[in-house]
Amino acid sequence: MIDKFTITKPDDWHVHLRDSQMLDVVVLDTVKQFARAVVMPNLQIPVITTEMAIAYRERILNSIEKLKSENRIEVGNIFEPLMTIYLQDSTPSEEVLRAKKSGVVFAFKLYPASSTTNSQHGVVDLLGNCSELLENLQKVGMPLLVHSEVSDRRVDIFDRERVFIDRVMVILRKISKFKNSILSIFLTKEGVDFVLDDDNSPIAATITPQHLIYNRNDIFFGGLNPHLYCLPILKKEEDRIALLNAATSGNKKFFLGTDSAPHDKSFKENACSCAGCYNASHAMSLYASIFDSVGRLDNLELFASFNGPDFYNLPRNKELLTLYKEDNIVPNELTSNDIKIIPLSAGKILKWLYVAVFDFNLF
Ligand code: DOR
Ligand code: ZN
Repeated sequence: MIDKFTITKPDDWHVHLRDSQMLDVVVLDTVKQFARAVVMPNLQIPVITTEMAIAYRERILNSIEKLKSENRIEVGNIFEPLMTIYLQDSTPSEEVLRAKKSGVVFAFKLYPASSTTNSQHGVVDLLGNCSELLENLQKVGMPLLVHSEVSDRRVDIFDRERVFIDRVMVILRKISKFKNSILSIFLTKEGVDFVLDDDNSPIAATITPQHLIYNRNDIFFGGLNPHLYCLPILKKEEDRIALLNAATSGNKKFFLGTDSAPHDKSFKENACSCAGCYNASHAMSLYASIFDSVGRLDNLELFASFNGPDFYNLPRNKELLTLYKEDNIVPNELTSNDIKIIPLSAGKILKWLYVAVFDFNLF
């Protein structure tokens, strides 16, 4: 029986680290488990230029330095934030060249306007207004990350990904001349089928723990549960099963993206609850428990550590992360100064526990 499992240190290809006080609280969780993370640009004041991405990166690195000086992470812990720029209809196409030249911007992120948290300044007409910019992205080989949902209020919230695939992704796939350039967050059976449809397409998808564990019934089970409200919203059980099969299959087009998106408890348990689940505190324990539950722990390293860098032609990480088979309870609440966060699966028992090297004294 396996009771310990060591894998190459994973990367998180989709995370929200926020800013200011919240950044200081959450960055530690990501840094302990992941060697690199793609940092989303949807801050309250979105990161819309290269200059802003460089400044945000500095704030992240400063926050990590502070943790090191407080001995909360090892001085030798290496973490690379992969920065992104929030695309707008008005973003000049030359911004792509500036971004490339900076050496720290990894990708542009497409949020269809008003599709999710802080996306009101996002894109209204991608193909009409951003075609030159899309050309430039391909010229310099920079990925486009996509929040794959229409925001059209006439479309049922559970159908928004399917409609987005028909209206936007099919065209993006056709016009994209470069290999491995589009990463979408796909969280339905149709999304999985779209990725699998063409092995040579430039499209891959990240999958979150919440979409692997829960379906839309869970949002309403025993009352309305705001901590399971995220966007794209949880879907049907058949979608969850399709995602579980895709993630655990080892297929190179699917890889880890937590979409960890912290909101203070007061904004979640609110008459108008914010979308987003916080899972960074125990992301690898969640993924390992899920993979183990279907007997596919052998494919965890592909999903978490290899498929992502391979898709982007980046080196695989050299560091390692060890997971232990040991029941552990997800805390009911995470607290730091004035901030309270309810983590995903709060109060639930997980079968696997990740242990960052520095936490060894827990044992
Ligand atoms: O649930 C979500 N929360 N989905 C997103 O796309 C954004 C995120 C956030 O920033 O809170
Ligand atoms: Zn996100």
